[in-house]
Amino acid sequence: MNWLKWHLYLATLCGLQMLLWLGSGLALSLIDEEYLDSNRNRVRDTGMPMNAPRHFHANEVSLPAQVTEIRLDSILSRPVYRLMLGEKSLSLWADTLTPMVLDEPLLRQIAAASINLPLEEQPQYLPGDETGFPASVKVALFKAYNDRNTRVLVDADSGKLLAHKDIGSDLKELLLMLHFMDYAPGNGIAFNHLGIRIFALLTLLMVFTGALVVWQRWQGGFYLLRKADANSQHLSVFDLKGNELGQFCAGPSLLETINANNPLLPTQCGGGGSCGLCTLVFIDTPPAATEADIKRLGEKVEQGQRLACQHGAYTGRVRLANKAQERYWHKQCQISEPSSNENV
Ligand code: FES
Repeated sequence: MNWLKWHLYLATLCGLQMLLWLGSGLALSLIDEEYLDSNRNRVRDTGMPMNAPRHFHANEVSLPAQVTEIRLDSILSRPVYRLMLGEKSLSLWADTLTPMVLDEPLLRQIAAASINLPLEEQPQYLPGDETGFPASVKVALFKAYNDRNTRVLVDADSGKLLAHKDIGSDLKELLLMLHFMDYAPGNGIAFNHLGIRIFALLTLLMVFTGALVVWQRWQGGFYLLRKADANSQHLSVFDLKGNELGQFCAGPSLLETINANNPLLPTQCGGGGSCGLCTLVFIDTPPAATEADIKRLGEKVEQGQRLACQHGAYTGRVRLANKAQERYWHKQCQISEPSSNENV
């Protein structure tokens, strides 16, 4: 299995998200807080005293049998009883004990009382998921007349004022979405959601594949300690006719040994063990074939062929495996005829 390829894919994904996390966090801390504030035109206190709620009398109101809870709320400075009927609810004006009819004029009144800007007459009705309030079934959205695209959102079923939004809060939501990987629409801002769990799993897989790459390289002889006397140990590379192309000081891998100063051996997979372009033929005893060698080269491993990217530093004699490699080598050296190329 080419674990390096999987490791690189996972590292790219996790790295991209890391960059998004850093960039969005930096932007959130640098952008002026005031610009992101969508409540600059919000009216917090209507100044009107709230009427006192009336008590229920059995002979005045007959409550449905399914009522599980009664909550006291307020709308437009008037008290409201919320009667919870399982999943549904019923609202009564608590000062008159009459049903509260949430029609469009009342929704508009609620929206208009919360802002010191004129609003457009007609609201737009949207599902709660689309507005970032998944708990609401239907949301009435009133647009204000200003250049910041200010909107007032009211729950169309309960009359509850949900939020004021504008270009500042839109930008803040976008940055928070990127920062918390909150890409599922309607998820709201939350930790520990599915996206974060998936990325945590991908990061864990990245660590595992990284460990497997280290293990494979260890088996390929990448991390063997060698004597410091490099003069007595070098790699010699020959062409197909047996002419010596160059001598090289041992590097971390066979491919890196040859390509250290000039990419003389072609590669498409960047050392991933999948393209096969770095194949070499060992003249001396070859190292043990790796999984990637066997998968890519099959029976050719019996003839001493190995992938240079899959083996650690080697000192001995190897030759190129085909004409294409020779042409590439000479092109890289900018010579037309093969000749000795001392690199030691
Ligand atoms: S560089 Fe692609 S297989 Fe070695």
